Amino acid sequence: MKGIILAGGNGTRLHPLTLVTNKHLLPVYKKPMIFWPLETLIYCGIKDILIISGRGHAGHFVNLLGSGKKFGVDLSYDIQEDAGGIAHALAIAEDFANKDKIAVILGDNVFMDSGELKKGVDDFKKQEDGAKIFLKSVSDAHRFGVAEVKENKVIGVEEKPKQPKSNLAVTGMYLYDNNAFDIIRGLQPSGRGELEITDVNNHYIEKNQMSYHVLESEWTDAGTFDSLLRANLIAAGIKSFPQ
Ligand code: DAU
Repeated sequence: MKGIILAGGNGTRLHPLTLVTNKHLLPVYKKPMIFWPLETLIYCGIKDILIISGRGHAGHFVNLLGSGKKFGVDLSYDIQEDAGGIAHALAIAEDFANKDKIAVILGDNVFMDSGELKKGVDDFKKQEDGAKIFLKSVSDAHRFGVAEVKENKVIGVEEKPKQPKSNLAVTGMYLYDNNAFDIIRGLQPSGRGELEITDVNNHYIEKNQMSYHVLESEWTDAGTFDSLLRANLIAAGIKSFPQ
């Protein structure tokens, strides 16, 4: 299975922190943010990893991470010219994926215990085709893609709903078969002008090809001031703070 880290986008919600520096290079406790998703993929046993970033900061990622040798993996790099959305960034990885299954992780997602994800990856390798997502119970579901689950099946995902149908956020780790790229080719931009990963997930759900796991361990994104602070606190082992 190939790994893909999506580190494009403009990080505008973190201005002025991201006026000069890339969001994924900001610190999350003792490491630059991108170390967290990278180490998660590595923990899952994935050794061939593509990092997709915007043009402005691509050289910084290369300076920081190099060939991947010091992590024991092979790193490749590619560029998303415009921030056209998560699915738009993923489309760039088609040649790299080379028909293999893929594990896609967002560059601003911090998973505290990769053990559950590794089990999910191992299970997905045995799953013939389709996709798998990882959900997490949160108190602010309206900020995320939100999954509706009935009788042990995900029956739909809504992107940032005003009135979430559940408290289950769709985290930024997605496992797909190679069909993801055909699905993306058929997508139209959303209201916010982006190709949405939620639309990719809903295609798999409609075809009855989506499995899921609800995480017990801590997870957060780090793309807003509050969530970046939260990521730092969780990473430092400080747990008693309001969500
Ligand atoms: O964190 C999980 C959430 O991430 C999911 O629950 C949502 O369904 C999903 O849409 C996404 O929501 P956000 O609105 O928080 O995504 P954001 O625009 O902050 O982008 C997250 C990461 O995706 C970002 O750190 C880098 C990558 N990205 C994003 C965009 C818009 C790209 O590589 N290219 C892009 O054009």
